[in-house]
Amino acid sequence: MTTRNANTTDGGLTRRAFMQSTAAGAGLLLAPALWAQESQPAATELRIALIGAGSQGRNLLTQCLKIAGVRFAAVCDIWPYHQRYSANILKKYDQPVKVYADYQEMLAKETDLDAVIIATPDWVHAEQAAACLRAGRHVYCEKEMANNLDGARRMVQAARETGKLLQIGHQRRSNPRYGQAIKLIRKDKILGRITHVYGQWNRAERLEVGWPKGEEMDAATLKRHGYDSMERFCNWRWYRQYSGGPMADLGSHQVDVFNWILDARPQSVLAGGGHDYYENSEWYDNVMAVYEYPVEGKIVRGFYQVLSTTSHGGFYETFMGDQGSMVISEDPRKGFIFREVAAPKREWEDEAKKVETMGKEAIELKVGETLAPDGTKTPEAQRMLEESQKPVHQLHLENFFRAIREGTPLSCPPEVAYETAVSVLLANEAVAARRQLEFPADAFQV
Ligand SMILES: NC(=O)c1ccc[n+]([C@@H]2O[C@H](COP(=O)([O-])OP(=O)(O)OC[C@H]3O[C@@H](n4cnc5c(N)ncnc54)[C@H](O)[C@@H]3O)[C@@H](O)[C@H]2O)c1
Repeated sequence: MTTRNANTTDGGLTRRAFMQSTAAGAGLLLAPALWAQESQPAATELRIALIGAGSQGRNLLTQCLKIAGVRFAAVCDIWPYHQRYSANILKKYDQPVKVYADYQEMLAKETDLDAVIIATPDWVHAEQAAACLRAGRHVYCEKEMANNLDGARRMVQAARETGKLLQIGHQRRSNPRYGQAIKLIRKDKILGRITHVYGQWNRAERLEVGWPKGEEMDAATLKRHGYDSMERFCNWRWYRQYSGGPMADLGSHQVDVFNWILDARPQSVLAGGGHDYYENSEWYDNVMAVYEYPVEGKIVRGFYQVLSTTSHGGFYETFMGDQGSMVISEDPRKGFIFREVAAPKREWEDEAKKVETMGKEAIELKVGETLAPDGTKTPEAQRMLEESQKPVHQLHLENFFRAIREGTPLSCPPEVAYETAVSVLLANEAVAARRQLEFPADAFQV
Protein backbone atom coordinates (compact mmCIF):
# COMPACT_ATOMS: atom_id res chain seq x y z
CA MET A 1 0.00 0.00 0.00
CA THR A 2 2.76 2.37 0.91
CA THR A 3 4.58 1.64 -2.31
CA ARG A 4 1.50 2.26 -4.38
CA ASN A 5 0.80 5.61 -2.84
CA ALA A 6 4.41 6.67 -2.94
CA ASN A 7 3.97 7.16 -6.69
CA THR A 8 3.67 10.67 -7.93
CA THR A 9 0.17 12.03 -8.34
CA ASP A 10 -1.43 13.53 -11.40
CA GLY A 11 -3.08 16.92 -11.65
CA GLY A 12 -0.14 18.75 -10.11
CA LEU A 13 -0.92 17.81 -6.52
CA THR A 14 2.00 17.27 -4.24
CA ARG A 15 2.16 13.82 -2.74
CA ARG A 16 1.36 15.22 0.70
CA ALA A 17 -1.64 17.16 -0.63
CA PHE A 18 -2.80 14.08 -2.47
CA MET A 19 -2.60 11.85 0.53
CA GLN A 20 -4.23 14.42 2.75
CA SER A 21 -7.19 14.54 0.43
CA THR A 22 -7.63 10.90 -0.47
CA ALA A 23 -10.19 8.50 0.81
CA ALA A 24 -7.23 6.52 1.98
CA GLY A 25 -5.57 9.23 3.95
CA ALA A 26 -8.05 11.93 4.73
CA GLY A 27 -9.59 10.42 7.80
CA LEU A 28 -6.27 10.40 9.55
CA LEU A 29 -6.02 14.11 9.81
CA LEU A 30 -9.37 14.67 11.36
CA ALA A 31 -10.16 11.57 13.30
CA PRO A 32 -11.03 13.05 16.68
CA ALA A 33 -9.75 12.43 20.15
CA LEU A 34 -11.43 9.06 19.84
CA TRP A 35 -8.21 7.39 18.91
CA ALA A 36 -5.67 10.02 19.91
CA GLN A 37 -4.16 7.66 22.42
CA GLU A 38 -2.00 4.74 23.31
CA SER A 39 1.28 6.53 23.01
CA GLN A 40 1.51 7.12 26.76
CA PRO A 41 2.46 4.25 29.04
CA ALA A 42 -0.07 3.57 31.76
CA ALA A 43 0.71 5.52 34.88
CA THR A 44 -1.17 3.37 37.34
CA GLU A 45 -2.53 -0.11 37.14
CA LEU A 46 -6.30 -0.32 36.95
CA ARG A 47 -7.89 -3.10 38.98
CA ILE A 48 -10.89 -4.50 37.21
CA ALA A 49 -13.52 -7.22 37.52
CA LEU A 50 -15.71 -9.05 35.03
CA ILE A 51 -19.37 -9.88 35.62
CA GLY A 52 -20.61 -12.45 33.13
CA ALA A 53 -17.86 -14.72 31.86
CA GLY A 54 -19.71 -16.26 28.92
CA SER A 55 -18.69 -16.04 25.32
CA GLN A 56 -18.47 -12.23 25.08
CA GLY A 57 -17.16 -11.85 28.63
CA ARG A 58 -14.23 -14.09 27.78
CA ASN A 59 -13.66 -12.21 24.55
CA LEU A 60 -13.43 -8.94 26.48
CA LEU A 61 -11.23 -10.61 29.08
CA THR A 62 -8.86 -11.76 26.34
CA GLN A 63 -8.71 -8.25 24.87
CA CYS A 64 -7.98 -6.77 28.32
CA LEU A 65 -5.02 -9.11 28.67
CA LYS A 66 -3.43 -7.29 25.72
CA ILE A 67 -3.83 -3.85 27.30
CA ALA A 68 -1.02 -2.59 29.48
CA GLY A 69 -1.77 -1.43 33.00
CA VAL A 70 -5.01 -3.35 33.48
CA ARG A 71 -5.28 -6.25 35.89
CA PHE A 72 -8.18 -8.49 36.84
CA ALA A 73 -8.91 -8.84 40.55
CA ALA A 74 -12.18 -10.76 40.37
CA VAL A 75 -14.62 -12.58 38.15
CA CYS A 76 -18.31 -13.00 38.90
CA ASP A 77 -20.62 -15.45 37.19
CA ILE A 78 -23.59 -17.40 38.45
CA TRP A 79 -22.46 -20.51 36.55
CA PRO A 80 -19.58 -22.36 38.25
CA TYR A 81 -18.52 -23.77 34.88
CA HIS A 82 -17.87 -20.28 33.50
CA GLN A 83 -16.30 -19.12 36.77
CA ARG A 84 -13.71 -21.89 36.54
CA TYR A 85 -13.18 -21.46 32.83
CA SER A 86 -12.39 -17.77 33.02
CA ALA A 87 -10.40 -17.98 36.27
CA ASN A 88 -8.23 -20.65 34.64
CA ILE A 89 -7.51 -18.42 31.65
CA LEU A 90 -6.53 -15.56 33.94
CA LYS A 91 -4.33 -17.81 36.05
CA LYS A 92 -2.38 -18.78 32.93
CA TYR A 93 -1.69 -15.09 32.39
CA ASP A 94 -0.53 -14.64 35.96
CA GLN A 95 -3.70 -12.83 37.01
CA PRO A 96 -5.16 -15.05 39.75
CA VAL A 97 -8.63 -13.79 40.67
CA LYS A 98 -11.23 -14.16 43.37
CA VAL A 99 -14.35 -15.78 42.04
CA TYR A 100 -17.91 -14.80 42.96
CA ALA A 101 -21.41 -15.93 42.09
CA ASP A 102 -23.07 -12.83 43.52
CA TYR A 103 -22.02 -9.48 42.08
CA GLN A 104 -23.18 -7.62 45.19
CA GLU A 105 -20.91 -9.70 47.37
CA MET A 106 -18.10 -8.96 44.93
CA LEU A 107 -18.74 -5.21 45.13
CA ALA A 108 -18.83 -5.37 48.92
CA LYS A 109 -15.59 -7.34 49.24
CA GLU A 110 -13.51 -5.98 46.36
CA THR A 111 -13.24 -2.49 47.69
CA ASP A 112 -10.38 -1.30 45.51
CA LEU A 113 -11.80 -2.02 42.07
CA ASP A 114 -11.47 0.82 39.57
CA ALA A 115 -13.82 -0.60 36.97
CA VAL A 116 -16.19 -3.43 36.20
CA ILE A 117 -16.87 -4.99 32.81
CA ILE A 118 -20.39 -6.38 32.44
CA ALA A 119 -21.16 -9.04 29.84
CA THR A 120 -24.24 -10.71 31.28
CA PRO A 121 -27.52 -11.20 29.39
CA ASP A 122 -29.18 -7.89 28.56
CA TRP A 123 -31.96 -8.08 31.13
CA VAL A 124 -29.60 -7.76 34.12
CA HIS A 125 -27.42 -4.98 32.68
CA ALA A 126 -29.45 -2.16 34.24
CA GLU A 127 -29.48 -3.56 37.75
CA GLN A 128 -25.81 -4.54 37.69
CA ALA A 129 -24.46 -1.45 35.93
CA ALA A 130 -26.39 0.92 38.21
CA ALA A 131 -25.19 -0.96 41.31
CA CYS A 132 -21.55 -0.88 40.17
CA LEU A 133 -21.75 2.84 39.37
CA ARG A 134 -23.36 3.56 42.73
CA ALA A 135 -20.60 1.55 44.39
CA GLY A 136 -18.16 4.05 42.86
CA ARG A 137 -16.85 1.93 39.97
CA HIS A 138 -16.52 2.88 36.33
CA VAL A 139 -18.44 0.48 34.10
CA TYR A 140 -18.02 -0.97 30.62
CA CYS A 141 -21.35 -2.64 29.90
CA GLU A 142 -22.12 -4.68 26.84
CA LYS A 143 -24.92 -3.75 24.49
CA GLU A 144 -27.85 -3.96 24.24
CA MET A 145 -27.91 -1.48 27.08
CA ALA A 146 -31.11 -3.03 28.42
CA ASN A 147 -34.06 -4.89 26.98
CA ASN A 148 -36.45 -2.15 28.04
CA LEU A 149 -36.24 1.63 28.14
CA ASP A 150 -36.86 1.89 31.82
CA GLY A 151 -33.67 -0.10 32.47
CA ALA A 152 -31.69 1.93 29.93
CA ARG A 153 -32.89 5.17 31.53
CA ARG A 154 -31.82 3.99 34.99
CA MET A 155 -28.34 3.36 33.64
CA VAL A 156 -28.06 6.87 32.20
CA GLN A 157 -29.30 8.35 35.46
CA ALA A 158 -26.91 6.28 37.58
CA ALA A 159 -23.96 7.45 35.47
CA ARG A 160 -25.05 11.07 35.72
CA GLU A 161 -25.71 10.98 39.44
CA THR A 162 -22.46 9.24 40.36
CA GLY A 163 -20.21 11.00 37.87
CA LYS A 164 -18.68 7.62 37.05
CA LEU A 165 -17.99 6.54 33.48
CA LEU A 166 -20.33 4.20 31.66
CA GLN A 167 -19.19 2.91 28.29
CA ILE A 168 -21.70 0.84 26.32
CA GLY A 169 -20.37 -1.89 24.04
CA HIS A 170 -21.19 -0.47 20.61
CA GLN A 171 -17.57 -0.98 19.65
CA ARG A 172 -17.86 0.43 16.12
CA ARG A 173 -17.74 3.82 17.84
CA SER A 174 -14.05 3.23 18.62
CA ASN A 175 -13.17 1.76 15.22
CA PRO A 176 -10.92 4.03 13.11
CA ARG A 177 -12.47 2.76 9.88
CA TYR A 178 -15.84 4.12 10.96
CA GLY A 179 -14.19 7.35 12.09
CA GLN A 180 -12.75 7.73 8.63
CA ALA A 181 -16.08 6.96 6.97
CA ILE A 182 -17.68 9.73 9.02
CA LYS A 183 -15.04 12.19 8.00
CA LEU A 184 -15.40 11.34 4.32
CA ILE A 185 -19.19 11.45 4.41
CA ARG A 186 -19.82 14.39 6.72
CA LYS A 187 -16.87 16.69 6.11
CA ASP A 188 -15.68 15.86 2.60
CA LYS A 189 -19.24 15.06 1.49
CA ILE A 190 -17.96 12.54 -1.00
CA LEU A 191 -21.41 10.97 -1.29
CA GLY A 192 -23.15 14.29 -1.92
CA ARG A 193 -26.57 14.48 -0.30
CA ILE A 194 -27.38 11.22 1.45
CA THR A 195 -30.84 10.02 0.56
CA HIS A 196 -30.85 6.43 1.81
CA VAL A 197 -29.01 4.13 4.18
CA TYR A 198 -29.14 0.38 4.34
CA GLY A 199 -27.93 -2.14 6.87
CA GLN A 200 -28.24 -5.84 7.31
CA TRP A 201 -27.15 -8.65 9.54
CA ASN A 202 -28.04 -11.99 8.07
CA ARG A 203 -27.09 -15.06 10.05
CA ALA A 204 -27.31 -18.71 9.19
CA GLU A 205 -29.82 -20.94 10.87
CA ARG A 206 -29.06 -20.85 14.55
CA LEU A 207 -28.21 -23.89 16.59
CA GLU A 208 -29.49 -24.20 20.07
CA VAL A 209 -26.83 -23.30 22.63
CA GLY A 210 -26.08 -26.31 24.81
CA TRP A 211 -23.96 -26.99 27.87
CA PRO A 212 -21.43 -29.66 28.85
CA LYS A 213 -22.98 -32.72 30.44
CA GLY A 214 -22.63 -32.65 34.20
CA GLU A 215 -22.26 -28.85 34.32
CA GLU A 216 -25.95 -28.07 34.74
CA MET A 217 -27.00 -25.70 37.51
CA ASP A 218 -29.68 -27.13 39.76
CA ALA A 219 -33.25 -25.93 39.46
CA ALA A 220 -33.15 -23.88 42.68
CA THR A 221 -30.03 -21.96 41.61
CA LEU A 222 -31.47 -21.32 38.17
CA LYS A 223 -34.73 -20.12 39.66
CA ARG A 224 -32.96 -17.83 42.10
CA HIS A 225 -31.39 -16.08 39.11
CA GLY A 226 -34.58 -15.90 37.08
CA TYR A 227 -34.26 -18.89 34.77
CA ASP A 228 -36.71 -21.80 34.49
CA SER A 229 -34.30 -24.19 32.83
CA MET A 230 -30.76 -24.58 31.48
CA GLU A 231 -32.25 -24.24 28.01
CA ARG A 232 -33.63 -20.76 28.74
CA PHE A 233 -30.47 -19.78 30.61
CA CYS A 234 -28.18 -20.69 27.70
CA ASN A 235 -30.55 -19.46 24.96
CA TRP A 236 -31.59 -16.25 26.70
CA ARG A 237 -31.42 -14.26 23.44
CA TRP A 238 -34.63 -15.86 22.20
CA TYR A 239 -36.80 -14.99 25.20
CA ARG A 240 -38.53 -11.69 25.79
CA GLN A 241 -37.80 -11.65 29.49
CA TYR A 242 -34.05 -11.61 28.88
CA SER A 243 -33.44 -9.96 25.51
CA GLY A 244 -34.77 -7.47 22.97
CA GLY A 245 -34.47 -10.09 20.20
CA PRO A 246 -32.31 -9.88 17.05
CA MET A 247 -33.29 -6.27 16.44
CA ALA A 248 -31.68 -5.30 19.75
CA ASP A 249 -28.95 -7.92 19.72
CA LEU A 250 -27.60 -7.27 16.22
CA GLY A 251 -29.65 -4.37 14.91
CA SER A 252 -28.54 -2.11 17.73
CA HIS A 253 -24.94 -2.09 16.45
CA GLN A 254 -25.99 -1.01 13.00
CA VAL A 255 -28.90 1.31 13.73
CA ASP A 256 -26.40 2.98 16.05
CA VAL A 257 -24.22 3.49 12.96
CA PHE A 258 -27.20 5.02 11.09
CA ASN A 259 -27.78 7.49 13.95
CA TRP A 260 -24.07 8.22 14.25
CA ILE A 261 -23.20 8.76 10.60
CA LEU A 262 -26.35 10.71 9.85
CA ASP A 263 -25.92 12.62 13.12
CA ALA A 264 -29.67 12.33 13.55
CA ARG A 265 -32.39 10.46 15.41
CA PRO A 266 -35.18 8.69 13.53
CA GLN A 267 -38.61 10.31 13.56
CA SER A 268 -40.57 7.17 12.64
CA VAL A 269 -40.20 3.46 12.00
CA LEU A 270 -42.28 1.08 9.95
CA ALA A 271 -41.43 -2.58 10.42
CA GLY A 272 -42.48 -6.06 9.43
CA GLY A 273 -41.23 -9.32 10.73
CA GLY A 274 -42.23 -12.41 12.52
CA HIS A 275 -41.63 -15.40 14.57
CA ASP A 276 -41.79 -17.68 11.58
CA TYR A 277 -39.06 -20.28 11.68
CA TYR A 278 -38.07 -21.35 15.18
CA GLU A 279 -40.61 -23.01 17.38
CA ASN A 280 -38.96 -22.68 20.76
CA SER A 281 -38.25 -18.96 20.73
CA GLU A 282 -40.35 -15.92 21.59
CA TRP A 283 -38.59 -13.26 19.53
CA TYR A 284 -39.04 -12.34 15.87
CA ASP A 285 -36.49 -14.30 13.89
CA ASN A 286 -36.66 -11.77 11.04
CA VAL A 287 -37.29 -8.04 11.08
CA MET A 288 -37.29 -5.53 8.23
CA ALA A 289 -37.54 -1.96 9.36
CA VAL A 290 -37.79 1.35 7.49
CA TYR A 291 -36.67 4.38 9.47
CA GLU A 292 -37.24 8.01 8.52
CA TYR A 293 -34.53 10.45 9.59
CA PRO A 294 -34.88 14.21 9.39
CA VAL A 295 -31.55 15.45 8.03
CA GLU A 296 -31.01 19.09 7.10
CA GLY A 297 -34.71 19.62 6.44
CA LYS A 298 -35.05 16.53 4.19
CA ILE A 299 -35.95 12.91 4.86
CA VAL A 300 -33.35 10.17 4.70
CA ARG A 301 -34.84 6.67 4.67
CA GLY A 302 -32.96 3.87 6.34
CA PHE A 303 -33.78 0.23 5.64
CA TYR A 304 -32.52 -2.31 8.13
CA GLN A 305 -32.98 -6.06 8.08
CA VAL A 306 -31.93 -8.82 10.42
CA LEU A 307 -32.52 -12.40 9.31
CA SER A 308 -31.64 -15.48 11.32
CA THR A 309 -32.16 -18.21 8.77
CA THR A 310 -29.67 -17.24 6.07
CA SER A 311 -26.20 -15.76 6.15
CA HIS A 312 -26.57 -14.25 2.68
CA GLY A 313 -24.46 -11.11 2.45
CA GLY A 314 -23.48 -11.19 6.12
CA PHE A 315 -23.38 -7.85 7.89
CA TYR A 316 -22.58 -4.37 6.64
CA GLU A 317 -24.01 -0.88 6.28
CA THR A 318 -24.38 1.19 3.10
CA PHE A 319 -24.71 4.97 2.82
CA MET A 320 -26.17 6.16 -0.46
CA GLY A 321 -26.01 9.71 -1.74
CA ASP A 322 -26.64 11.48 -5.02
CA GLN A 323 -22.89 11.50 -5.80
CA GLY A 324 -21.86 8.11 -4.55
CA SER A 325 -22.24 5.40 -1.98
CA MET A 326 -20.15 3.73 0.67
CA VAL A 327 -20.24 0.22 2.04
CA ILE A 328 -18.71 -0.26 5.46
CA SER A 329 -18.65 -3.10 7.93
CA GLU A 330 -16.91 -4.24 11.04
CA ASP A 331 -15.61 -6.92 8.69
CA PRO A 332 -12.58 -5.08 7.28
CA ARG A 333 -12.97 -6.82 3.91
CA LYS A 334 -16.09 -4.77 3.31
CA GLY A 335 -15.16 -1.15 2.80
CA PHE A 336 -15.91 0.34 -0.62
CA ILE A 337 -16.67 3.74 -2.12
CA PHE A 338 -18.60 4.02 -5.39
CA ARG A 339 -18.90 7.25 -7.38
CA GLU A 340 -21.99 7.96 -9.46
CA VAL A 341 -21.01 8.32 -13.11
CA ALA A 342 -22.27 11.87 -13.32
CA ALA A 343 -20.57 12.99 -10.12
CA PRO A 344 -17.33 14.97 -10.42
CA LYS A 345 -14.20 12.88 -10.20
CA ARG A 346 -12.05 13.56 -7.16
CA GLU A 347 -8.44 14.41 -7.89
CA TRP A 348 -7.21 11.54 -5.75
CA GLU A 349 -9.21 8.82 -7.47
CA ASP A 350 -6.59 7.80 -10.03
CA GLU A 351 -4.15 6.94 -7.27
CA ALA A 352 -6.57 5.13 -4.99
CA LYS A 353 -6.72 1.36 -5.06
CA LYS A 354 -9.66 0.05 -7.09
CA VAL A 355 -11.47 -3.22 -6.79
CA GLU A 356 -14.25 -4.80 -8.80
CA THR A 357 -17.27 -5.61 -6.67
CA MET A 358 -20.98 -6.08 -7.42
CA GLY A 359 -20.14 -5.57 -11.10
CA LYS A 360 -18.77 -2.09 -10.47
CA GLU A 361 -15.42 -0.50 -9.88
CA ALA A 362 -15.01 0.69 -6.33
CA ILE A 363 -12.35 2.48 -4.30
CA GLU A 364 -11.21 0.56 -1.25
CA LEU A 365 -11.80 2.29 2.07
CA LYS A 366 -8.50 2.29 3.92
CA VAL A 367 -6.90 3.95 6.91
CA GLY A 368 -3.32 4.68 7.82
CA GLU A 369 -1.96 5.63 4.42
CA THR A 370 -1.02 9.28 4.81
CA LEU A 371 2.50 9.82 3.53
CA ALA A 372 5.07 12.45 4.39
CA PRO A 373 6.66 14.37 1.45
CA ASP A 374 9.52 11.86 1.39
CA GLY A 375 7.05 9.09 0.64
CA THR A 376 7.24 7.36 4.00
CA LYS A 377 4.26 6.88 6.25
CA THR A 378 3.76 9.66 8.75
CA PRO A 379 4.01 8.55 12.40
CA GLU A 380 0.30 9.29 12.74
CA ALA A 381 -0.49 7.14 9.71
CA GLN A 382 1.59 4.33 11.13
CA ARG A 383 -0.24 4.58 14.43
CA MET A 384 -3.63 4.62 12.72
CA LEU A 385 -2.69 1.59 10.67
CA GLU A 386 -1.69 -0.28 13.80
CA GLU A 387 -4.89 0.82 15.55
CA SER A 388 -7.04 -0.37 12.68
CA GLN A 389 -5.46 -3.81 12.90
CA LYS A 390 -6.36 -4.32 16.54
CA PRO A 391 -9.38 -6.41 17.45
CA VAL A 392 -12.41 -4.14 17.52
CA HIS A 393 -13.34 -4.81 21.13
CA GLN A 394 -9.81 -4.06 22.26
CA LEU A 395 -10.08 -0.58 20.73
CA HIS A 396 -13.32 0.09 22.56
CA LEU A 397 -11.90 -1.12 25.87
CA GLU A 398 -8.82 1.04 25.33
CA ASN A 399 -11.07 4.03 24.80
CA PHE A 400 -12.74 3.23 28.14
CA PHE A 401 -9.51 2.78 30.10
CA ARG A 402 -8.02 5.91 28.58
CA ALA A 403 -11.11 7.86 29.62
CA ILE A 404 -10.61 6.65 33.19
CA ARG A 405 -6.93 7.56 33.26
CA GLU A 406 -6.79 10.69 31.17
CA GLY A 407 -10.32 12.06 31.16
CA THR A 408 -10.62 11.72 27.37
CA PRO A 409 -14.16 11.31 25.97
CA LEU A 410 -15.89 7.95 25.92
CA SER A 411 -16.79 6.94 22.40
CA CYS A 412 -20.10 5.42 23.51
CA PRO A 413 -21.44 7.16 26.61
CA PRO A 414 -24.85 6.10 27.94
CA GLU A 415 -26.78 8.98 26.37
CA VAL A 416 -25.65 7.81 22.92
CA ALA A 417 -26.52 4.18 23.59
CA TYR A 418 -29.87 5.25 25.02
CA GLU A 419 -30.77 6.81 21.67
CA THR A 420 -29.88 3.52 20.00
CA ALA A 421 -31.99 1.56 22.47
CA VAL A 422 -34.96 3.84 21.78
CA SER A 423 -34.43 3.40 18.02
CA VAL A 424 -34.35 -0.40 18.01
CA LEU A 425 -36.94 -1.12 20.68
CA LEU A 426 -39.58 0.90 18.84
CA ALA A 427 -38.93 -1.21 15.71
CA ASN A 428 -39.99 -4.28 17.71
CA GLU A 429 -43.16 -2.45 18.68
CA ALA A 430 -43.78 -1.49 15.05
CA VAL A 431 -43.60 -5.17 14.08
CA ALA A 432 -46.22 -5.96 16.70
CA ALA A 433 -48.40 -3.00 15.68
CA ARG A 434 -47.99 -3.83 11.96
CA ARG A 435 -47.75 -0.13 11.11
CA GLN A 436 -45.52 2.92 11.13
CA LEU A 437 -44.85 4.36 14.59
CA GLU A 438 -43.66 7.89 15.34
CA PHE A 439 -40.98 8.56 17.92
CA PRO A 440 -42.40 11.01 20.47
CA ALA A 441 -40.66 14.39 20.44
CA ASP A 442 -38.92 13.71 23.77
CA ALA A 443 -38.23 10.01 23.08
CA PHE A 444 -34.47 10.37 22.99
CA GLN A 445 -34.09 12.38 26.16
CA VAL A 446 -33.46 11.14 29.69
N1 LIG B 1 -20.40 -6.08 21.45
C1 LIG B 1 -20.43 -7.25 20.87
O1 LIG B 1 -19.91 -7.42 19.76
C2 LIG B 1 -21.11 -8.40 21.55
C3 LIG B 1 -20.98 -9.69 21.03
C4 LIG B 1 -21.61 -10.74 21.70
C5 LIG B 1 -22.36 -10.49 22.84
N2 LIG B 1 -22.48 -9.23 23.32
C6 LIG B 1 -23.25 -8.94 24.54
O2 LIG B 1 -22.57 -9.54 25.64
C7 LIG B 1 -23.51 -9.98 26.61
C8 LIG B 1 -23.29 -11.46 26.90
O3 LIG B 1 -23.53 -12.20 25.73
P1 LIG B 1 -22.89 -13.66 25.56
O4 LIG B 1 -23.05 -14.03 24.14
O5 LIG B 1 -21.54 -13.69 26.15
O6 LIG B 1 -23.89 -14.54 26.47
P2 LIG B 1 -23.51 -15.86 27.25
O7 LIG B 1 -24.79 -16.53 27.58
O8 LIG B 1 -22.46 -16.63 26.53
O9 LIG B 1 -22.83 -15.33 28.59
C9 LIG B 1 -23.56 -14.72 29.63
C10 LIG B 1 -22.83 -15.03 30.94
O10 LIG B 1 -23.46 -14.31 31.99
C11 LIG B 1 -23.63 -15.18 33.09
N3 LIG B 1 -24.76 -14.69 33.88
C12 LIG B 1 -26.08 -14.76 33.62
N4 LIG B 1 -26.79 -14.11 34.56
C13 LIG B 1 -25.88 -13.62 35.45
C14 LIG B 1 -25.98 -12.85 36.64
N5 LIG B 1 -27.17 -12.46 37.10
N6 LIG B 1 -24.84 -12.53 37.30
C15 LIG B 1 -23.64 -12.93 36.85
N7 LIG B 1 -23.48 -13.68 35.72
C16 LIG B 1 -24.59 -14.02 35.04
C17 LIG B 1 -23.87 -16.54 32.46
O11 LIG B 1 -23.59 -17.58 33.38
C18 LIG B 1 -22.88 -16.51 31.31
O12 LIG B 1 -21.61 -16.93 31.73
C19 LIG B 1 -24.88 -9.64 26.04
O13 LIG B 1 -25.31 -8.41 26.54
C20 LIG B 1 -24.63 -9.54 24.55
O14 LIG B 1 -25.56 -8.71 23.89
C21 LIG B 1 -21.86 -8.19 22.70
